[in-house]
Amino acid sequence: MTLDIAQVRSSFPALKSGYIFADNAGGSQCLSDVVSRISDYLLNTNVQLGADYSVSVTSTQRVADGIEAVRELFNAESADEIALGSSSTMLAENLARAMEGDFLEGEEIIVTGEHEANAGPWKKLAARKGLTLKVWAHTPLASAPNNPYAVALQLDALLPLITPKTRLLTFTGCSNILGALVPVKAFTAAARARAAELGVRKLEVCIDCVAYAPHRRIDVRAWDVDYCFFSMYKVYGPHIGALYARSTSLAHSLTSLAHHFLRVEDKSYKLQPGGPGYELAYACTAVPAYLRGLAPAGELDDAWARIAAHEQALVRPLLEYLKGKEARGVRIVGEETAGAGRAPTVSFVVVGERAVSSRDVVRAFDEKKNIGIRYGHFYAYTLVDSLSPKIDVDDAVVRISLVHYNTVEEVQKIIDILEEVLA
Ligand SMILES: Cc1ncc(COP(=O)(O)O)c(C=O)c1O
Repeated sequence: MTLDIAQVRSSFPALKSGYIFADNAGGSQCLSDVVSRISDYLLNTNVQLGADYSVSVTSTQRVADGIEAVRELFNAESADEIALGSSSTMLAENLARAMEGDFLEGEEIIVTGEHEANAGPWKKLAARKGLTLKVWAHTPLASAPNNPYAVALQLDALLPLITPKTRLLTFTGCSNILGALVPVKAFTAAARARAAELGVRKLEVCIDCVAYAPHRRIDVRAWDVDYCFFSMYKVYGPHIGALYARSTSLAHSLTSLAHHFLRVEDKSYKLQPGGPGYELAYACTAVPAYLRGLAPAGELDDAWARIAAHEQALVRPLLEYLKGKEARGVRIVGEETAGAGRAPTVSFVVVGERAVSSRDVVRAFDEKKNIGIRYGHFYAYTLVDSLSPKIDVDDAVVRISLVHYNTVEEVQKIIDILEEVLA
């Protein structure tokens, strides 16, 4: 069960240059097929949707095909449950605005310190409505007792936060700093069970899958979540965000943001005050088509399993190298060992007597001119700010974020540069 890496890499023209793209959690490279579809749409079918003339019929169908492709990536039941927008951040803010009327006085929202996209809109909503906001804190992992930065979202820190007033639970499917793949299904089931015991009126769950979607298959139905979002530009596609809202939530929890005369009661258009970029919506069709091409029988599950296996081959040597530099002051921020729950997004700091700032580590890479990594808090500001002992929240962490088109040879080159920096 392997990936044909030569085939994979040939689908991404940017990789031909030999440049090592290792900031993929910021944004992945784009499939050539995505670009072809954008230009095909704009050059041949660039008209307004919904009219009866032939070109409009084609463009309407193309956008519908794009939404269907995104539905498949969420494994949602219906394309009516999918909203598109310019970014995940904007879609989450729209969702919070649409949900505002469904909160009762005194109800509570639980957020995490992960990327602010799935916290900020809820913090602002709580402030507007006078709701109680609770932060599900990251706690140290028992597997790494000597590393205070080996932290994760853990269930025992969540369950006590749930009370009879809890209305909304939000968390990430994968941390864009820690690389931890969160067991969304198990956490959601446990939260729902606790909420049921406590007689909660209505608990809804909203998952940020932006850092999850490039690595594993999303399954909103198996997970039993109400809302979920990710950004196609991190999943080899165009710069567009996608939001899933369960049909019952669309019908009963959300007020329409669309024009008053549009009849969109139980449709995702409630969350789209305007149309998405049509050419970008159509270009989304290239992503599941590419993924299917990675598996001999065209099965998406098989494709994702191959991606996961290759990613483990990338992340294992990198984590082992960094762990071996503990005496030099390297501390991995997140789970220290590879495994099923670990995406190849690796963050670390260099502390102690011979500390090196994250900025200086990254500068050494920048000077090579053929590799891209990055440092910072990556908008997971609250998480970085909560680490103890404290680290400078602006210098934050060095992040090396790999995806399935990276190679083991590239990882070795990264390790060679780290070896120079940490000498
Ligand atoms: C985990 C996570 N959530 C949300 C976002 C925001 O996505 P967008 O840029 O589409 O708003 C990012 C972007 O880096 C992210 O990594």
